[in-house]
Amino acid sequence: MGNPPPLPLPRPEAPATWSIQRLLRWTADHFATRGLDSPRLTAEVLLAHALGVTRLRLYLDFDRPLEAAELGAFRDLVRRRAEGVPTQQLVGGREFHGHWFAVDGRVFIPRPETELLVDACLSALPGDGAGARVLDLCAGSGCVGLSLALERPAARVDAVELSPDACAVARQDAAALGAGDRWTLRCGDLFAPLPAEAVWQVIAANPPYVPTGTIPHLAVEVRDHEPRLALDGGPDGLAVVRRIVREGAGRLAPGGLMALEIGEGQAPAVQTLFAAAGLSPAAPIRDPAGHERIVTARSAAAGSIS
Ligand SMILES: C[S@@+](CC[C@H](N)C(=O)[O-])C[C@H]1O[C@@H](n2cnc3c(N)ncnc32)[C@H](O)[C@@H]1O
Repeated sequence: MGNPPPLPLPRPEAPATWSIQRLLRWTADHFATRGLDSPRLTAEVLLAHALGVTRLRLYLDFDRPLEAAELGAFRDLVRRRAEGVPTQQLVGGREFHGHWFAVDGRVFIPRPETELLVDACLSALPGDGAGARVLDLCAGSGCVGLSLALERPAARVDAVELSPDACAVARQDAAALGAGDRWTLRCGDLFAPLPAEAVWQVIAANPPYVPTGTIPHLAVEVRDHEPRLALDGGPDGLAVVRRIVREGAGRLAPGGLMALEIGEGQAPAVQTLFAAAGLSPAAPIRDPAGHERIVTARSAAAGSIS
């Protein structure tokens, strides 16, 4: 496939003809024609970013003409978005569970459905989390573990991530969010970099869970712009999940919770893995689209007979 034709975006020499209102309408139509999701919202987010203002300000200044430099910056964002670069990478981050996480192409973009994983873990961590030790495997940007550390300031959160690039991004996010020594990231493979004797009240993970053969069919934004290591879950998508359940079941404190984000249709297989590892599964949690998205299971409570 050749390069797309140049965008017929407004010429800088005639900026007065391009008000915010007119530019938004043109760009939303352009994105819709290219089949992008949420074309109007995307146009607003990118224009607000190019102008360094809020989306509300766009509406308050609807008739303001854009200057040449502003048009140039916006034109570049529109071109890259139309080529498939995710909006969150263009604006440099995304809000997740009430906090801003900076992201770029080195790291998986936090998703709204992963907030359900955080919520499931929070419900197992009463109060300020005093005395609790929490583990976030496959940490990526750190969004899961950092959100838990910020919501439960007395808990101690360990995080593990295999990609050194993602680790660098997560450390920047942790510093920006002021997580301090409540959150500790180790770069490595699942349980390998963790102290051998440690156990956790909560083990959370949003692992790679896309079956290898499905990856070529993913949206271009994901397939071509997010790290393959964040997606590829092996032939059936469960290669990393299987290891987390097997290796993690014995690393839960008595009555501890394991909570995993999974792909569509994977819940029955993961429930079976939980049971085989001696954990008691709960009913899966559905995402807003109705898919079973989060699976949880508990280890036996202290003193109970398994
Ligand atoms: C789907 S992303 C999730 C990132 C983040 N937790 C989130 O929810 O946005 C999966 C992450 O797991 C990491 N990963 C893959 N295999 C791993 C392994 N064996 N050990 C640790 N991390 C791994 C990837 O690099 C990627 O950052």
